[in-house]
Amino acid sequence: MRYSTIPPIEILAASLRDVHAVHRLEKEIFLYDAYPHLDLAFLFLTPGEVNLKAVNGAGQLVGFVTGSRSWFRSLPAWIVTLGVAPAYQRQGIGRGLLLACEDRLSRRRVRLTVRKSNFAAIRLYEQCGYQHLYTKPHYYRNGEDGLVMEKTRD
Ligand SMILES: CC(C)(COP(=O)(O)OP(=O)(O)OC[C@H]1O[C@@H](n2cnc3c(N)ncnc32)[C@H](O)[C@@H]1OP(=O)(O)O)[C@@H](O)C(=O)NCCC(=O)NCCS
Repeated sequence: MRYSTIPPIEILAASLRDVHAVHRLEKEIFLYDAYPHLDLAFLFLTPGEVNLKAVNGAGQLVGFVTGSRSWFRSLPAWIVTLGVAPAYQRQGIGRGLLLACEDRLSRRRVRLTVRKSNFAAIRLYEQCGYQHLYTKPHYYRNGEDGLVMEKTRD
């Protein structure tokens, strides 16, 4: 399978019941950019959003991804958030979540925004076929630029 991870990690559909765990993990891994609880709940409730989680053998949440798409197939889908718990990073889980989300979004073009200084994420995205499209100056709360990256899928 293209997005397999090291067992016993599983990638599953996430639901509103996971929102607390996702919020906790977001706060742990994002210094400034964690979504407020309500915004996350909204993402889980909006039709058409793709919400996936990675769980370990004990059923604990160790990663998540959300993707968003327009009803218009010609418009690009967007990866909204992606994160992996520090103890589980560098095991292929981020890549697995990203590719699984892209598959379920079923759009030819997928975009995302990433901090200019987030080399780990940029490397992951480049490895998965994303290319820098344009820069959003001072996009983040602390004034850092955001890089918009895009992938065109076959
Ligand atoms: C970015 C993030 C999701 C990557 O998840 P991950 O599960 O560790 O990534 P993977 O193990 O799937 O790594 C895939 C590739 O990404 C790159 N990569 C991942 N982490 C890296 C790091 N710390 N340094 C350099 N490259 C890295 C590598 O190319 C890696 O391939 P390799 O291990 O074969 O060299 C994770 O580091 C994270 O949650 N970071 C904090 C939240 C965040 O920045 N999210 C993205 C916001 S846009």
